[in-house]
Amino acid sequence: MSTPTISIEQARESLKTEFDSLSDKKQILRSKTLEGLMANLKSLPNEEKASYGRDLNALKGEVIGWVNASEAEAQELGPIDVTAPFDSNTPENMRPALLSTKLGSKHPIMAELEYIVDIFSRMGFEAVESRQIDDDYHMFESLNFPEGHPARDDYDTFMTTDGLIAPAHTSTMQNRVLRQFKDNLENGKPIAVVIPDRVFRNEDVDVTHEHTFHQFEGVYIDKGVTVGNLIATLKTFMSEYFGQDLKAKLQPFYFPFTEPSFEFAIERPASLRKGTTEADMWLELLGCGMIHPNVLKAADIDPTIYTGFAWGCGIERLVMMKNNIEDIRHFQAGKLDFLRQFS
Ligand code: DAH
Repeated sequence: MSTPTISIEQARESLKTEFDSLSDKKQILRSKTLEGLMANLKSLPNEEKASYGRDLNALKGEVIGWVNASEAEAQELGPIDVTAPFDSNTPENMRPALLSTKLGSKHPIMAELEYIVDIFSRMGFEAVESRQIDDDYHMFESLNFPEGHPARDDYDTFMTTDGLIAPAHTSTMQNRVLRQFKDNLENGKPIAVVIPDRVFRNEDVDVTHEHTFHQFEGVYIDKGVTVGNLIATLKTFMSEYFGQDLKAKLQPFYFPFTEPSFEFAIERPASLRKGTTEADMWLELLGCGMIHPNVLKAADIDPTIYTGFAWGCGIERLVMMKNNIEDIRHFQAGKLDFLRQFS
């Protein structure tokens, strides 16, 4: 006659220790300890079998309970993370590859604006941002548009009821930068500043007109500055920007803040020529001229000693030319299909 080698109590303890150490909890049901207990049952005298068998069944039931509990625990869902790009309860190996997610990119206007400023800074210009709200003095008066001047109509823009103006051009900064950099002249250095920013117009919006767009203004003042310097500066910039030598020409124009005033045109790069007439050859890109004596006087600069030139150029137009973009409204539409072409 043989007796059980371990009691049910001892068996429970050793099963629990084994269970805790298993990574696959179901393996406990094939434990040697359980097998040993079954073998014991068979070898017991009949009168002991019934009570031993009951205890053994109860223990087995308990062990199965441990397994079920551990499985339920493993399946329990974690909290939902609404900022995660996948269900955070998805097992690691089934999650989408995060690296394939597309990152955002710089807006093409901002990228070009930075490139433009970079070219001018290599030419010795300082960069100053414009502003998106201004007053009548800076937008008009200091630029030689007295009140009631008909040319004010060309700069129709948005105004607040108390007379503040969303500037229609970056020229609104001229008086400020002339004052800010006036010391340069006294120290025998030129004033050379480029001023990029957003500008606003009361426009009928279409493929070439937007109510909100970008310009960069340029101002250069020293002793003995001439139209020749103006042409050389703008030509150098355009050739650098378009990456090829381009012919340029000036045609007469009118601005209250320059005298003489010009429209600066460049020969269209061959790839952007739509026809063969003289008009197809040239592209009017910007307004420019020799700074009017009244504009210099408004900043306390003596026009009998100093002369200078200035220009204002739309950025969207340049970017459209460079990239063959047909509609200016794409820039503000916020459409990813458009923006991703520049990422
Ligand atoms: N402010 C003018 C415009 O938006 C462009 C311009 C013309 C700027 C001549 C200048 C300039 O500085 O000298 O139409």
